[in-house]
Amino acid sequence: MSAVNDDTVTSEARSGLRRQVGLRWRSRDPLLPALPSDLPPGCGAPLRVTGAGGAVLAAGSCAHWEGEPAALDLTWGAARRFELTAWVAGPGGPAVTRVLDSLLEQWREHLVGLPDPAAADTAAVVTWPSRDVDGAACLLRRGFAPLAVIAARITGTDPSQPATPGLGGAAVPAGVRIRRAGTADIDTLVRCGLEVVRFDAHFGGVQERPSTAEALRREFTAMLALPRPWIWLAERDGEAVGMLAAEQPEQAGWIAPRARSAPVSYLLLMGVRAGERARGIGAALSARLNEEVLAAGVPLTLLHYAQVNPLSAPFWSQQGYRPLWTCWEARPPGCIR
Ligand SMILES: CC(C)(COP(=O)(O)OP(=O)(O)OC[C@H]1O[C@@H](n2cnc3c(N)ncnc32)[C@H](O)[C@@H]1OP(=O)(O)O)[C@@H](O)C(=O)NCCC(=O)NCCS
Repeated sequence: MSAVNDDTVTSEARSGLRRQVGLRWRSRDPLLPALPSDLPPGCGAPLRVTGAGGAVLAAGSCAHWEGEPAALDLTWGAARRFELTAWVAGPGGPAVTRVLDSLLEQWREHLVGLPDPAAADTAAVVTWPSRDVDGAACLLRRGFAPLAVIAARITGTDPSQPATPGLGGAAVPAGVRIRRAGTADIDTLVRCGLEVVRFDAHFGGVQERPSTAEALRREFTAMLALPRPWIWLAERDGEAVGMLAAEQPEQAGWIAPRARSAPVSYLLLMGVRAGERARGIGAALSARLNEEVLAAGVPLTLLHYAQVNPLSAPFWSQQGYRPLWTCWEARPPGCIR
């Protein structure tokens, strides 16, 4: 097995590799795309692993991303990100682990060769299928932490997929009213959104930026401009105690390539005020979205949660979501071993 430092992977080898990755994904998780999206052009760093007879065992692409100061994306992670898309061939097992390890070593060498690989607020990011478990130990050994999960919930409208069990229409707790938000609620939504960001910031991925409040305001304003915005407030005595904001398929196209079924909806943000948690408000908000998603015939809903947020994983599991992708990060990239 060796690293190849040129760009001579033929299109035939590339499509063979892509097919092999797709085959393993299908055997691991029916919700993954049938084939990986094409490798993005990236920065051009040659990331390839070859085996006997020159067979291409893995290829990768490294994208360099820098957030605009005002962008909401900046709140969800580091200001500068190096994102690896990794295609690793093979049915699974130790061979896959070894090949991924070799690809990560090449990527590490590329990243430490960049100016200031230890700069603050930078991250190396690998998004790997959660059920493709042969990657996990290798990523951990290399110094990556599983910071976030992209979780999926099947709506049950796609005849090729079994419906998700779990809570259907959770009852709204006594004294609480759930209503669709309108433009007059923008200040409340920004305040609730900031509370969620501040809570999630405990777990090392999300961080409040000077621009976060304004970015949330822009995001919610755009969502509220739709005819029936997928944003709801939970209120007690007229006061907001929780909120949920989700993107409809027209806005969620950016994440649809992560899943087999399309279109998808995306749950952007949800939170319940601290003193009101564990009373069923979160479940009722989530059920409200489920009803809307079902009525719209959208087969899948995706969301991100912080892996180590102790409230998130059990809650979303109860609402019928399960891990699809795990977002592994080394911050800064110089931490990769
Ligand atoms: C995650 C979050 C939105 C859940 O909202 P919530 O209103 O607390 O959720 P629920 O009350 O419906 O469910 C939470 C728990 O309370 C339990 N519960 C629900 N109704 C209950 C009741 N009447 N009495 C006692 N427990 C109850 C649920 O079974 C659930 O238990 P579990 O965590 O052991 O599975 C909320 O905890 C929150 O805002 N967290 C901070 C922000 C955050 O983490 N956001 C990121 C989400 S990705």
